[in-house]
Amino acid sequence: MESKPLCKTTEIEEGKSREFEVGNKKILVSNVGGKFYAIDALCSHMGGDLGKGKSEGHDVICPKHHARFNVQTGKVDKNINGFFKAMTRKEATDLKSYEVKENDGELSVEL
Ligand code: FES
Repeated sequence: MESKPLCKTTEIEEGKSREFEVGNKKILVSNVGGKFYAIDALCSHMGGDLGKGKSEGHDVICPKHHARFNVQTGKVDKNINGFFKAMTRKEATDLKSYEVKENDGELSVEL
């Protein structure tokens, strides 16, 4: 595992998320109640960009078919609805989550 620098803690407001490209990965870093969490930023359903999704509590909502992921764990909180499931013959699956470290007001992620 390697620690990769991200940004200052003040650069992600509480209740918001921000996308980062780290190496060849896109990750989404979220501030929930002053704590920081990171998950893969590409939706496991059909690659929707969660960086463009809406943050709601500890969830981020995929802009494509509205699967909800818990940013603290990467787990699917609510899957796509039956219509999208029938259309795409696929559902969202849990995303990988990563540990975010805070040091002197700077955030880094363990990849
Ligand atoms: S691509 Fe994210 S819900 Fe379909």
